[in-house]
Amino acid sequence: MFAGQPFPDRVETARLVVRRFADADAPRVLSILSRLDVIRWLDNPPFVPMADLDQARQWVTKVNRREVDDPLQAWRCLEVRETGVMAGTVLVPRLERIDGGFVGEYELGWHLHPDSTGRGYATEGAAAHARSAFAAGHTSLVIGMYPDNAPSAAVARRLGAEDLGEVPDDPWYGGVSRHFTLRPEHLDATQVRE
Ligand SMILES: CC(C)(COP(=O)(O)OP(=O)(O)OC[C@H]1O[C@@H](n2cnc3c(N)ncnc32)[C@H](O)[C@@H]1OP(=O)(O)O)[C@@H](O)C(=O)NCCC(=O)NCCS
Repeated sequence: MFAGQPFPDRVETARLVVRRFADADAPRVLSILSRLDVIRWLDNPPFVPMADLDQARQWVTKVNRREVDDPLQAWRCLEVRETGVMAGTVLVPRLERIDGGFVGEYELGWHLHPDSTGRGYATEGAAAHARSAFAAGHTSLVIGMYPDNAPSAAVARRLGAEDLGEVPDDPWYGGVSRHFTLRPEHLDATQVRE
């Protein structure tokens, strides 16, 4: 049951606008999701790069639609205030268990275009998006990744998330994963710029 405030369409942080995707973002979405070096970290194989602008527009429509269907999930893009460049994405999707369907679990995720890494944008945007998620009613968020995804683990650590280590049987993706969990008090205890 949805009991909190809806995810805001737009949140401003020190350096970013964390905002809802629009059709005009499709070229940049394509530029990010057509890259194997990004998508190979986001899901199980086979990794299928986005092929064209039509697919990017459909992706924008799809992720915005998911929030209408379930207001506890939300995808937002990270726009750099100074340049207007769309650096990447933060997302809170619902997690379906491989063997048990949906039991109320949600993930916090992120990905950047490689031209926008190394500046703290993922951490800053994810902190703001997690705040929105907690205001929407979430009490904790799962952060999962391939065990060798050191840059992603570093983002989770900077957010103050609790490190649960490697799990041999990921209940949502299968295989070996590394899990963290993020709760409001973790964010409160960090010095992350929001
Ligand atoms: C995971 C991913 C988002 C991490 O990106 P990132 O740029 O390393 O993370 P941040 O944006 O938080 O930036 C942190 C880095 O910026 C540096 N930085 C530079 N200027 C900074 C500033 N003003 N403020 C904060 N950090 C700054 C930090 O020191 C840190 O670098 P370090 O790790 O070398 O110490 C990125 O590697 C990615 O998109 N990978 C592919 C997709 C993926 O793996 N997604 C996650 C799936 S689980």
